[in-house]
Amino acid sequence: MEAALLDAEEQQFKNHEKKNWISRVKDVFYDADDLIDEFAYETLRRQVIAESRRGVKEVREVLSMPHHIAFRFKMSHRIKDIREKLNAIDVDKTQFHCSKSVRDTRIDELRETRETYSIIHDDEVVGREDDKKAIMDLLLDTNIEAKENIATIAIVGMGGLGKTALAQSVYNDENTTKHFMLKLWVCISEQFDVNVIVQKIIESATGKKPEILQIEFLQSELRKHIDGKKYLLIMDDVWNENYEKWVKLKTLLKDGAKGSRILITTRHQRVAETFDTILSYVLGQLDYQSAWLLFKKVAFRDEKPEKELANSDIVKIGKEIVAKLKGLPLAIRIIGSLLYAKKPEHHLWLAFKDKEFSRVLEQREEAQFMLSILELSYNHLPSSLKQCFTYCSLFPKDYIFQKDDMIKQWVAQSFVQSIGTIEPNDIGEDYFMELLSRSFFQDVTRNEMGDIVECKMHDLMHDLACSIMKNECVSMEVNDRVVIERTRHISIYRKFGIKLESLKLLFEAKNLRTLIIDAQCQDCHSWNGRIGKNRTCTIYLQQ
Ligand SMILES: Nc1ncnc2c1ncn2[C@@H]1O[C@H](COP(=O)(O)OP(=O)(O)OP(=O)(O)O)[C@@H](O)[C@H]1O
Ligand SMILES: [Mg+2]
Repeated sequence: MEAALLDAEEQQFKNHEKKNWISRVKDVFYDADDLIDEFAYETLRRQVIAESRRGVKEVREVLSMPHHIAFRFKMSHRIKDIREKLNAIDVDKTQFHCSKSVRDTRIDELRETRETYSIIHDDEVVGREDDKKAIMDLLLDTNIEAKENIATIAIVGMGGLGKTALAQSVYNDENTTKHFMLKLWVCISEQFDVNVIVQKIIESATGKKPEILQIEFLQSELRKHIDGKKYLLIMDDVWNENYEKWVKLKTLLKDGAKGSRILITTRHQRVAETFDTILSYVLGQLDYQSAWLLFKKVAFRDEKPEKELANSDIVKIGKEIVAKLKGLPLAIRIIGSLLYAKKPEHHLWLAFKDKEFSRVLEQREEAQFMLSILELSYNHLPSSLKQCFTYCSLFPKDYIFQKDDMIKQWVAQSFVQSIGTIEPNDIGEDYFMELLSRSFFQDVTRNEMGDIVECKMHDLMHDLACSIMKNECVSMEVNDRVVIERTRHISIYRKFGIKLESLKLLFEAKNLRTLIIDAQCQDCHSWNGRIGKNRTCTIYLQQ
């Protein structure tokens, strides 16, 4: 069964039947887990009663009450039901002609193979000098003819091409810092809610979330911060094509001094046009030399001396792979990280290039190609890491993960396999580092001691996690995912509070396990115990 499951997981992206089969396997395992949980609870309940009534003759009565008989009856039915489901799953497995070998890597093997984790730094931008100069010239040129004090420029290009990385490098450049009195960075993503954006701009200007969220207050606060100042505002990952919304935001931003600039990054030219841009800078692919440089950094991490690498067979294979990665930095990073996780052995890389990688190359369309690269990398994860990664779909796009909190949640969800006497949190830490090393996380922030405290996930990685989890994990922010009976985890993130109306949806999730609420909601507590058969763990991140 394990071999079939792993094989089906690899194929699920192409085959809907396999995907459904995996969902059925997951559901039945969840059912079994719930059942074990209920047995454990019942045993504990009886122990507690027996303890408190030790020596009293009612103990016998308590344990032989009708409740006891009803419990046994209910459980035997559920066990039968699980058995039947498992048998049906086993029968259906034969139609997929699944491979018989188990190829899953266990995390303790990873632990043995790697003493320390080498991480590539996100802030090293390769081969974008000319692009950076072109953008900087536009930002710093005070003679640009613009109708208003502010002028908007867009960086346009497909997902994973490096728009955000380029914008970051411009934002952090010391000339930018000298030229502008105020620098602001906001992540926009799919929802273009003017009030939320204003709130984010204030947060970027002050370094803390505004406490009063009334619209009038936020708007006057924003004006106060930018009034008469030459500012640079970067709006990253914009999708909005609604001109009225842009005009509404622009009205609030127009009080900056002459020479103020807004730089947006977007995948679509139509979006750039919506924002009255004076120029859309269409970003190209990385040239081959830069692509190779980036790949070398990621796949070898300076662990092999240059001399040893020069003209080696492994370098030849690496170069062949890079030539086919279409100059896409995200693809280069992901494949480089994947090969780094494998041993740098010629036959392993060759097998990868000729088999799995050559299948990805069948995807002609660039966006689809990028997605296939991510799927390939996911398929290579050990199964416990797959769970940890896909669980992250519960959090919104551009979410800043607090590493320790995330590890605690993985442990609480039993995703972390125990290894001897090692503390689960330490194993969770290994999981995190492995995911980071394979580029599933990025943009880490460290504390003064150099320890990682926060990280982010690339939006395309987040899309991948969401597409795998579908309705199993539902973030109420995402419109196309609905709460159904098999939904096990739900999160609610709303900057401006939640309406009780939308909470009614939660009743659909009869087997809910996790409910994360990061929103203002006065009556939320009264809903506890009424959802998910009482076994739901509710985490309130904001009151
Ligand atoms: N020139 C570069 N050198 C090194 N790493 C890069 C470069 N460009 C991008 N990257 C890395 O590649 C990944 C994808 O880049 P980035 O997030 O900038 O893409 P994007 O175009 O903004 O994608 P999206 O449209 O999905 O937001 C990131 O991990 C980033 O750090
Ligand atoms: Mg981006």
